[in-house]
Amino acid sequence: MARKKVVLAYSGGLDTSIAVRWMREQWDVDVVGCAVDVGQMNPAEHEAIRERAMAAGALDIEIIDARDEFADRFLAKALQANSLYEGKYPLVSALSRPVIVEHLVACARRHQADGVGHGCTGKGNDQVRFEVSTRTLAPDLEVFAPTRVWGLTRAECIDLAEQWDIPIEASKEKIYSIDENMWGRAIECGVLENPWSAPPEEPFTMTVNSKDAPSEPRDLVVGFERGVPVSLDGTAMSLRSIIELVGEAAGSYGFGRLDMVENRRVGIKSREVYECPASLALITAHQDLEGICLERDVAREKQRVEIRIAELIYDGLWHSPLMSALQAFVESTQQHVTGEVRLRLEPGRCYGVGRRAPKGLYDHDLATYDAGDTFRHEDSAGFVRLWGLSVETWSRRQGPGSS
Ligand code: ARG
Repeated sequence: MARKKVVLAYSGGLDTSIAVRWMREQWDVDVVGCAVDVGQMNPAEHEAIRERAMAAGALDIEIIDARDEFADRFLAKALQANSLYEGKYPLVSALSRPVIVEHLVACARRHQADGVGHGCTGKGNDQVRFEVSTRTLAPDLEVFAPTRVWGLTRAECIDLAEQWDIPIEASKEKIYSIDENMWGRAIECGVLENPWSAPPEEPFTMTVNSKDAPSEPRDLVVGFERGVPVSLDGTAMSLRSIIELVGEAAGSYGFGRLDMVENRRVGIKSREVYECPASLALITAHQDLEGICLERDVAREKQRVEIRIAELIYDGLWHSPLMSALQAFVESTQQHVTGEVRLRLEPGRCYGVGRRAPKGLYDHDLATYDAGDTFRHEDSAGFVRLWGLSVETWSRRQGPGSS
């Protein structure tokens, strides 16, 4: 019988490099690497990644540039839904898994593979996302998860890399586990495992410490069409470029760091440190624009839907019927979320200081306290009396107004 073939999500790092050779030896399978760029790769490293995969014994390696697709098909939707897990985390890693899996599956088809593989541990969310998406998109493919069963420590992996002549840059004392893409960066492990210890400065790369930020504020004007950014400071550009530029600007002001304890799908509470300058700045801008564009009841209902969407993304259910249904609701709310927001950057801060929209619902003549007021003041007295009638009756009979 021919050996099975597995397409492995390959990052070029220590674990997935060891996994290539380990799966071949332990499970007698052929391995094709598939490295998907969602903004974490330096194009100059492509050659090194290719060489490492081949040195580890891969049959072949594909490097796929999914940056624009990630922005246009995934991040745009997350942004329209202001997606923040547990009210804070913009779902950096969670959002990248479905696009990576789509490419893994396509790559598996091209290579007529029997399964896909990933390097996630058994304690995290990422295994859930990889496997649930794979089983949804391609239920016939087997899933291989070597790191979940091999029981190797980091030091043992490094020894194996040496023994197998796999060129890796890892050092035995690397303390953080990092996952990143254009939406931000997730940092775990090391001293961060004590939730009482303040995060040290060293692991941050997308944000400066706010005490080193420029003292002069800087404004950015983000233009939106139907809830998706289409321009920056008046210049039309791709969503990916906007994300990159906003991320650099906000990061240079030390904006976007998060420190939280979050609830993983597998039931563990975990201390997470993030830096998310682009995503948090763009969500701030989008929410600000929605403030003048969404009718009140739509805005309130949307907040409920947003919480559910964030949970679905976090829990690996991007590819699910509920997600499509809720996204259809969000999409319909975004019809008139077209306009501009002026964001102000100050050390450690990013906030809206101006917004305008051609179909906005802000009506100056209704809102003004100056001349030109069109609000019918005489309607208010009766409205307010009826609004309070129920509690007034309660008070008289049963509450503080009763005797
Ligand atoms: N806790 C985050 C999530 O579940 C980030 C996980 C990132 N993985 C990592 N290797 N640091 O989405």
